[in-house]
Amino acid sequence: MSQTIAPVLVFGATGQQGGSVTNALLKAGQTVRALVRDPASVKAIKLASRGVEVVRGDLSDTASIEEAMSGVRGVFSVQPSSPTGTLTDADEVRYGIAVADAAVRAGVEQFVYSSVGTASDEPTGMGHFDSKAEIEAHVRTLPIAWTIVRPVAFMDMLVMPGFGLDEGRFSFFAGRDQTMQFLAVEDIGKFVAPIFADPERFAGQTIEIASDIVTGTEIEAAFSRAAGRSITYSRFSDEVLAANPFLSGLTALLDSGPLAGHADLAEMRQLNPEILTFESWLAGSGREAFQLALGTSGQWDYNR
Ligand SMILES: NC(=O)c1ccc[n+]([C@@H]2O[C@H](COP(=O)([O-])OP(=O)(O)OC[C@H]3O[C@@H](n4cnc5c(N)ncnc54)[C@H](OP(=O)(O)O)[C@@H]3O)[C@@H](O)[C@H]2O)c1
Repeated sequence: MSQTIAPVLVFGATGQQGGSVTNALLKAGQTVRALVRDPASVKAIKLASRGVEVVRGDLSDTASIEEAMSGVRGVFSVQPSSPTGTLTDADEVRYGIAVADAAVRAGVEQFVYSSVGTASDEPTGMGHFDSKAEIEAHVRTLPIAWTIVRPVAFMDMLVMPGFGLDEGRFSFFAGRDQTMQFLAVEDIGKFVAPIFADPERFAGQTIEIASDIVTGTEIEAAFSRAAGRSITYSRFSDEVLAANPFLSGLTALLDSGPLAGHADLAEMRQLNPEILTFESWLAGSGREAFQLALGTSGQWDYNR
């Protein structure tokens, strides 16, 4: 792919999604600018050492967003959400709309917004999904080439400490024979870079993105093989769900469909021929975190 001179501005480049998009854009020969809160942070310095133009900014500071957009040809927009505990759903909506509007004012040609697979015209009752539906509705009104990607649940979330791996078990939302789509964070950029390479083709599209689909028993088998010992899979117990409205809300959305993921995996493979299966991700970029989780006790901070 040829080098494009005007940069793509990536939000969240020190995080999972923006980091993945940055990697893929750099690999495709695209110039990248990253808006970061602290250019002196270890992650920001690493980005700069890889040729990323790092600029200081904050989602709460519209002037800094506008300044960062000067001369860019495209924007990858992602915001943190309320389950991290650092901002409200209303903040997320305000930030998402501010970034979109700033892109229009700056004359940016292409805008890619990362939403979530569960977002829908119908309210889900989960604030951090409905916030994204609200931002999506605004993005669809933009007078520029926009594309919305909807990432399903990240595989990388499965190997966070707190789901029981250190005790030889693994608990999650799906029943043992229930399917759920997952997305390797590493794949996100590989889906998004082709969108930036062909703005016209993808303009006006909303694309749910996923890497693979697995059942609880398939997770059990893959984890047991990778651990070299038995890992028993179960759905979160009724007791745990009854005590956690956040978890039970998500579980209900899996049972009713939206959280299960509905990406067209054949289309995903065309968009990203290097797409990872759950097993290949676990043997590759997921391996280190999985090994760490096997030896780490803890509790996933889901009790909100
Ligand atoms: N987990 C899942 O399965 C899943 C699935 C689909 C969608 N999502 C959505 O993904 C989003 C989070 O993306 P992620 O996982 O890539 O995030 P992440 O890894 O937690 O990274 C957050 C990024 O946002 C930046 N950031 C935070 N506050 C900022 C501010 N005030 N101004 C500018 N930048 C700020 C951080 O930069 P610094 O800290 O370096 O400043 C960091 O780069 C959420 O909206 C979530 O709902 C998650």
